Amino acid sequence: MRIILVGFGVVGQSLARILLQRRPELVRSYGFNPKVVAVVDKGGAAVNMRGLDLEEILSLKVKEGTVAASRDGRPDLSALEVIESVEAEVMVEVTPTNIKDGEPGLSHIKSAFRTGKSVVTTNKGPLALALPALTELAEYSGVQLRFSGTVGAGTPILDLAKKCLLGDRIISIRGVLNGTTNYILTEMEEKHISFHQALKDAQRLGYAEANPSMDVDGLDTACKIVIMANWIMGRKVTLKDVKIEGIRNVTREDLEEASRRGRTIRLLGFIDKDLKVAPTEISKGDPLAVKGVLNAVTFTSEFTGEETIIGRGAGGMATASAVLRDLINIKEALSSTL
Ligand SMILES: NC(=O)c1ccc[n+]([C@@H]2O[C@H](COP(=O)([O-])OP(=O)(O)OC[C@H]3O[C@@H](n4cnc5c(N)ncnc54)[C@H](OP(=O)(O)O)[C@@H]3O)[C@@H](O)[C@H]2O)c1
Repeated sequence: MRIILVGFGVVGQSLARILLQRRPELVRSYGFNPKVVAVVDKGGAAVNMRGLDLEEILSLKVKEGTVAASRDGRPDLSALEVIESVEAEVMVEVTPTNIKDGEPGLSHIKSAFRTGKSVVTTNKGPLALALPALTELAEYSGVQLRFSGTVGAGTPILDLAKKCLLGDRIISIRGVLNGTTNYILTEMEEKHISFHQALKDAQRLGYAEANPSMDVDGLDTACKIVIMANWIMGRKVTLKDVKIEGIRNVTREDLEEASRRGRTIRLLGFIDKDLKVAPTEISKGDPLAVKGVLNAVTFTSEFTGEETIIGRGAGGMATASAVLRDLINIKEALSSTL
């Protein structure tokens, strides 16, 4: 399988490392023989139709700051030019999330579809803004769109719901989908500190961005709710359909008061009749009352009842493992149509 990798930051580099480490096992166990023919970052591209030397590309990225410095380097090529001119079965899109207009990821994904390439992405922006349209475009183009790393990183939340609960009907979903806000709320509760102090600690430890709005204002959770509602429940919704409230107004006193009654507060995303993100009081015994940076999602199904999956919701290697899972699934889907 020929792969174009667009974005070579934390997730892109982790994917390259996993492919290097696991190649013999991937061929043996899945008949999956990935060949990365192009890698693109902001400095340009590296292209080799026989397959790039990923070890060289990884070390050059560290030393020179861009993959375009390699012997296969093409500093003149943009991501769009690579997607349009290089032949491949799949484009992996791992550029930064942008929920204003979805760019540059949205154009990369559309261009991949137009040129007959399937897409694996961990970029929530294009999906939150346009998942129903992108799903239609992928079907129309006869290609696949996979994004299991967008929700729960390596924890297979989307796959559990889609594959393991096949045969049942999921009625509603609620979950802790953002590790940063969960860390902040846990710290406020356990250390009796304010939101601002807990946020500062989270930033110092690298759990929160310098601009924490995506996390603390509930936008990241809302993006994940949109992705789950489309993929799992077949709803045709986008970010504007979600009612969103973040955690800025949750106080230490709110958490202390809840704690006295055996309860706690978590930022939950809900998919029911409506789509909602809000700080919510739950029992301390609720499986969603996870601590620190964990994520947890409870599915309520018609016959199975409630089931909860818990796991780490971020991390380069974990997210890259979800990309690999998607690539193997695409390989299997492509083989079954031959
Ligand atoms: N990290 C995680 O744990 C995690 C978990 C789940 C989902 N995600 C999502 O996965 C995506 C990637 O995350 P990340 O942590 O790998 O981000 P990152 O470290 O910031 O890397 C982003 C990469 O995209 C490249 N890029 C930006 N604009 C570009 C353009 N116009 N053309 C080509 N390349 C471009 C950057 O190039 P330069 O290297 O030249 O700057 C960089 O290599 C994001 O959407 C993120 O929200 C991340």
